[in-house]
Amino acid sequence: MSSKVAIVIGGGQTLGAFLSQGLAENGYQVAVADLNGANAEKIAQEINHKQGKNIAQGFQVDATNEQSVIALAQNVDRAFGRSDLLVYSAGVAKASPITQFPLKDFEFSVAVNLTGYFLCAREFAKLMVRDGIAGRIIQINSKSGKVGSKHNSGYSAAKFGGVGLTQSLALDLADKGITVNSLMLGNLLKSPMFQSLIPQYAEKLGIPEDQVEQVYIDKVPLKRGCDYQDVLNVLLFYASEKASYCTGQSINITGGQVMF
Ligand SMILES: NC(=O)c1ccc[n+]([C@@H]2O[C@H](COP(=O)([O-])OP(=O)(O)OC[C@H]3O[C@@H](n4cnc5c(N)ncnc54)[C@H](O)[C@@H]3O)[C@@H](O)[C@H]2O)c1
Repeated sequence: MSSKVAIVIGGGQTLGAFLSQGLAENGYQVAVADLNGANAEKIAQEINHKQGKNIAQGFQVDATNEQSVIALAQNVDRAFGRSDLLVYSAGVAKASPITQFPLKDFEFSVAVNLTGYFLCAREFAKLMVRDGIAGRIIQINSKSGKVGSKHNSGYSAAKFGGVGLTQSLALDLADKGITVNSLMLGNLLKSPMFQSLIPQYAEKLGIPEDQVEQVYIDKVPLKRGCDYQDVLNVLLFYASEKASYCTGQSINITGGQVMF
């Protein structure tokens, strides 16, 4: 029997790339999908090289575009013939105080963080249901999906929406044995996304840019930022059979910063 197939949306860089590699190391075939098709292809090639066999393939997709996501599902289905695990990791964050927040940034955040999750979950759920696969859908969310985030109204609103979507999908798909969960991450301090927000955070806090990381570490009871490996560890559990009784959950990976 061929091994399970994971699809990682936003797999072309940073966390998504790390999760793609980690899933491959844990026995999955991996469809690496990203808006940046060249990055997706590069990560897939790296996986194949490291594993010494062709278990990964790169795909270009715009997760916010319905036709593009439908085409992705068809292409993944043609290439791998099954879909067991969808990881939705694509996300964008653009920060501004609310009085200056451009509508286009708000809409862009909702499109990538929420609408894309809806479209991908819908199309890959269809394949799981068609094949009678008790699959897994896992959204990469954020602590900003449980607690408001200053100057991040677009991001936080979209991530909160993701929690409602996860709970609703979990109800829709429960009778098929498909589970749906969100992972609520703390700050990935070394990621380009966090680093790109440092100038705005410095302004918001009234401190020099080189002190921002420490302020964010000090907010965490376990006194460090979230690592990509922390996310992979929890993802592998919720993707596994061991988590078959868990669905509709929003699981904190925040070092104790968020406790509900
Ligand atoms: N970086 C952090 O500190 C942090 C904290 C909490 C949660 N998260 C969440 O983790 C996830 C990954 O974040 P990251 O830091 O790796 O971000 P990143 O920007 O480094 O990577 C995101 C990837 O998504 C892709 N993408 C963007 N729009 C897309 C679209 N329309 N269709 C397909 N792919 C698209 C990008 O090309 C990129 O490869 C996001 O959902 C983010 O909200 C990040």
